Amino acid sequence: MLDADARERVIVALDCGRDEALDLASALAGHARWLKVGMTLYYAEGPSIVREFKELGFDVFLDLKFHDIPHQVRGAARSAALAGADLLSVHGSGAGAMLAACREGADEAAEVRGERPRLVAITVLTSMDAASLAQIGIGCPVAEQVDRLARLAADNGIDGVVCSPQEAERMRGLLGPDALVVTPGVRPAGAELGDQSRVATPAQAIAAGASHIVVGRPITGAPDPVAAYEAIVAELVERA
Ligand code: C5P
Repeated sequence: MLDADARERVIVALDCGRDEALDLASALAGHARWLKVGMTLYYAEGPSIVREFKELGFDVFLDLKFHDIPHQVRGAARSAALAGADLLSVHGSGAGAMLAACREGADEAAEVRGERPRLVAITVLTSMDAASLAQIGIGCPVAEQVDRLARLAADNGIDGVVCSPQEAERMRGLLGPDALVVTPGVRPAGAELGDQSRVATPAQAIAAGASHIVVGRPITGAPDPVAAYEAIVAELVERA
């Protein structure tokens, strides 16, 4: 894989407070292309943190996992897109009308901003298993529910899914070559697992069909985050 292609595919998750996030972003500027802002940072700092990262030159995955009535999700997608987010997440379990509303909100923002953020659906959270699905009244196997929600998302204008590396190959087959398949749970060989259990290395995740990998603590918790990021890029250049 080419160096620029590898940089396009690695999304660095900044799950920390503002000062640490800005220090990391400044260090990674000129190296990393993508940052992920999740609920921890966004609910503390709001849309200004997205704008600050955009000013440093990053593309931003704003991972707020929308799930509400369609009217609210349309507005959320529009607002997040106008804040500058390049990629947004939404729960597939919100069903077709909500997914379509998410796309409409992103399209509305595109009329103002000139470009539409891409959208990825969460299918079944990887923290859930068959027993937790049964708790909420879903009796089918996890894989069947993942497939159902991935198809529903694609049918309603969503560009792809977030899934574990173990699901990437099936999602790629189901959604086709152009879909976004974004996989967290990625650990370079020898890295601490943290609370992730089913993990793959960066090259394994890409080989399985991931378009993008999300890597947090192996980079943000490293003694030298830039070196840790560059090692992942080097792995992809050599092996993917
Ligand atoms: O630090 P780590 O590499 O585990 O970070 C992974 C990121 O991906 C975190 O921001 C986490 O919220 C997110 N994520 C995940 N597992 C999922 C979906 C998202 O770890 N199934």
